[in-house]
Amino acid sequence: MGIDFKGKVAIVTGAGGGLGRTHALELAKRGAKVVVNDLGGAMDGSGGNSKAAEAVVAEIKAAGGEAIANGSSVSDRKGVDLLVKQTMEAFGRVDILINNAGILRDKSFKKMELDDFAVIMDVHVMGSVYCTKAVWPIMSEQNYGRIVMTTSPSGLYGNFGQANYGAAKMAVVGFMNTLKIEGAKNNIRINAIAPVAATRMTENLMPQQMLEKLGPELVTPGVVYLCSEDAPSGTVLQAMGGRFSVAAVVENQGVDLSATPTVEKVAENWAAISDLTNAKPRAR
Ligand code: NAI
Repeated sequence: MGIDFKGKVAIVTGAGGGLGRTHALELAKRGAKVVVNDLGGAMDGSGGNSKAAEAVVAEIKAAGGEAIANGSSVSDRKGVDLLVKQTMEAFGRVDILINNAGILRDKSFKKMELDDFAVIMDVHVMGSVYCTKAVWPIMSEQNYGRIVMTTSPSGLYGNFGQANYGAAKMAVVGFMNTLKIEGAKNNIRINAIAPVAATRMTENLMPQQMLEKLGPELVTPGVVYLCSEDAPSGTVLQAMGGRFSVAAVVENQGVDLSATPTVEKVAENWAAISDLTNAKPRAR
């Protein structure tokens, strides 16, 4: 096995099922000590117990790996502190954090309650912030860290009924963009995965034939690469059914209207201003 994680400690949130589970299993198979976090609730975030996390820990141990379970909610600050405390007590360091935990509260914006918006922001955005904040001093101190955010095509491109989820999923990309700059001097690299996979989250959204080709284990190799020593930083990796690609914000040259910057001039030049034919990511 070329890429291994011997001596590394990884926290994977929401790893009691779906994508988090396959990320946790692969990291453990490659030698990482894994903390399997999962609230174990329903898809809308209600209920919960640590059984889901414990079952994945049992799977890892049965395959000869090392893991512990944690049942905290990522949107509970005290729970996240406990998660990191348990990790430090059991394994003494944190090298990898995969912010994967997530829920859905889909509704058209017209019908969406503001509470459905707030709870999605709490789990996806603040959950990622709390976990990242709790490991940041540890990673800075040891001059090593690999963090993966979980974004979504719904955030990057939009999806009907997911105004809350899309906003949250794009927010974690903005979070990553600044952390990649602030973490660089301490060798902390931070990336985002935009997956498509057959999990309980998507089982009613896609036909069975399609789901069969979209196992979460086909996304995991990309995520595990983003956790490795040679990981890039600040990349949005798209992964679906074993196909991997990168998404980025691009911009064009634009049009200089400084001689007469009027509303009419913007209207007149709109075709050129909005032409993305030769657009590129911004050079740093
Ligand atoms: P899933 O529902 O199978 O897994 C999510 C896990 O997170 C569950 O085990 C759940 O118990 C756990 N969880 C939920 N809230 C939590 C909390 N507050 N604290 C701790 N754990 C919590 O769904 P899936 O598909 O594996 O989703 C994983 C991530 O991937 C999510 O962030 C999701 O938004 C994202 N995603 C999934 C896509 C897909 O096609 N399956 C597409 C794009 C993004």
